[in-house]
Parts: sequence; C-alpha cells; structure tokens
Amino acid sequence: MENRIKELLAEIEAFNTNNISALEKFRIKFLGKKGIMNDMFEHLKSLPNEHKKDFGQYVNTLKNSINSKIESIKENLNSQLDLSVNQVNIDLSLPVNFNNLGSRHPISIMRKRIIEIFERIGFTVSDGPEIEDDWHNFSALNFPEEHPARDMQDTFFIEQKPDIALRTHTSSVQVRVMESTKPPIRTISPGRVFRNEAISARAHCIFHQIEGLYIDKDVSFADLKQTLLYFAREMFGEDTKIRLRPSFFPFTEPSAEMDISCNLCKGKGCNICKYTGWVEILGCGMVDPNVLENCGIDSKVYTGFAFGMGIERMTMLKYQIKDLRLFFENDLNFLKQFESVI
Ligand code: DAH
Repeated sequence: MENRIKELLAEIEAFNTNNISALEKFRIKFLGKKGIMNDMFEHLKSLPNEHKKDFGQYVNTLKNSINSKIESIKENLNSQLDLSVNQVNIDLSLPVNFNNLGSRHPISIMRKRIIEIFERIGFTVSDGPEIEDDWHNFSALNFPEEHPARDMQDTFFIEQKPDIALRTHTSSVQVRVMESTKPPIRTISPGRVFRNEAISARAHCIFHQIEGLYIDKDVSFADLKQTLLYFAREMFGEDTKIRLRPSFFPFTEPSAEMDISCNLCKGKGCNICKYTGWVEILGCGMVDPNVLENCGIDSKVYTGFAFGMGIERMTMLKYQIKDLRLFFENDLNFLKQFESVI
C-alpha cells in the first residue's frame, strides 16, 4: 500500500493542466465520492489499530498534496483568465465612453427659443451694456425725475455715482438701438438685469429679460397684438389665447400687460393661474412719442411698439418650475433635467 501511495504522490506531483474540465476530472478521480481518497479512508478504517496511525499520516499527506495541487492550478487558470480579458477579449467596436458635456441652462434654452421665434419674422438681436447710465435706463425712457424706480431701493448704483447703475431692465437697449439705427427697426434684446430686491421664490436681484422693439411708418397697436399672438402661440401652443389689460409704463402710450391662457389647465383654473385661467407674461405698448424724440426719431413720421418679458418667468411657466432661486443655485439634479433639451 505504501508503494501505491508513493506512486499516487508522484502522479499528483506530475499533474498539470490549463483546462478547467481536466482539473475537474482530476479532482473527481481523487476526491469524488467514489474516488481514490475515499478508498483510502475505507482501507484506513479496516486496519488494526496499531497500523492506523502510520497509514493515517500517509493518507493525510496524500490529501494535502491533492488539495494544494488543485489550488495552485486554479490560481494559475484565474490569472490566465484575467490576462485574456485584458489583452484579447477587448471589444474594439464598443462606443467610447463620452465625456459628460453637461447641458444648457434652462434660461439659455428659453432665450434661444424666444430669439428663434422672433428671428422668423425678421427681428434682429441687439445687445447693450449691463452697467448703464441714467439717460439710457431712465431719462430717455420718459421716467420722471421723481419716479420710484430710480429709488435706491430698486436700483444698484455704482460707487455712489448717481448717474451710473446696473440696468434695471433691457428697455435701455431700445434707446441705444434707436440712437444708432435709422428706422425701420425690428429688434429684440436679451440680457441680464438687476434690481435691489430681497431674494425669494418669486423675486431675485438678478434676472433676465428680453426686450422687443418695432419702429416704422404706420406701425399700429394691431401689429403689436398680432406679433404677440404669434409669439404666444409659437411658444405655448397653437390654441393659446392672449388678452391685453390696460397698464402704465413711462415709455409707452398706451401701455398694456399681456396674459396668456393658462397652458397648464387650459383656462379651467389651477394654482399656477391662481384659478383665473390667465397668466401674465409681459408688458408692452406703443412707444411714447417723447421716447422717439429723445432718441432722435421723428415721431410725426414714425410710430412703433415695444414689449418686455422676463425669461425666468417664461421658463417657469413652460417647465412648471415653482422656485426662481433654482436658476441660480446650479444644483446638478435640477440642471440635469434639461439634458435632452437642445
Ligand atoms: N421694462 C419693463 C419692466 O422691466 C417691461 C416692459 C414693459 C418693456 C413695457 C417694454 C414695454 O418695452 O413696452 O418691467
């Protein structure tokens, strides 16, 4: 029997494979239910007690050598498997892992949409400075000297210079365009504006507006109404209705505020429209002749309309965003929701 064990030890020693099923066969041959080790243990049981100890040691050596052989071959096979995954099984046709490019900010998405809508009917885009003088922000726009909008509470003045301020609206760009361009003028002016307001869900000290201006001979209130109806339908859907309510702005006469039928409840009444079926979206009117004259345009020859809307407000209505502060916090969970919008 000792010789038999020596032979087996030599066989185990010599065994090697890189094939997993050959290894399994080897394991079954020795350790399986009807395997060699089982026979050995049976034989051990049958021996008289005085021989059990010696033979037991042989059997243990045999068992250990089988186990360590199996372990070492397994390790070898595993490392070969890793190598083959790294070196051979590379799928070169897989698309690359694109860098995450981020998404457009919802305010940028909305600004772009508004511009596209007005560009289609011949409006150009114009720009003006964010740091503005009193003339362009107030005086040329017919604001009386004592108008409350000039008050320190509303306006951020620059270094105690009462004449220089952060613009409070994009209407200042109207003035700049009229001063530098001969009619006909058809332009929209998107931009950032600043007001000294406490920050809340509905108000912020920085926000965005788009100003519109159309100056030509014979421009009438009907043109204003049709232009705004076209805009409302393009932006909020074909069945959108508009209504104009009389209002007051120093730079337009007559002035109006425009509501659209609530695009959420379709006019039935919900908490967005405060159960009125209408939501206010912009201010507008016929450019006051004083403003035309202030900007060097003959008010006897030309007439025009103007309008101004808040981009945040439009975005909140379009995407049902309830808190204005979200636009400025740059929370990725919020911004990521606009990834699919181009
Ligand atoms: N500038 C106004 C504001 O900030 C908005 C506005 C109203 C602009 C009427 C206009 C207009 O051009 O005609 O509230």
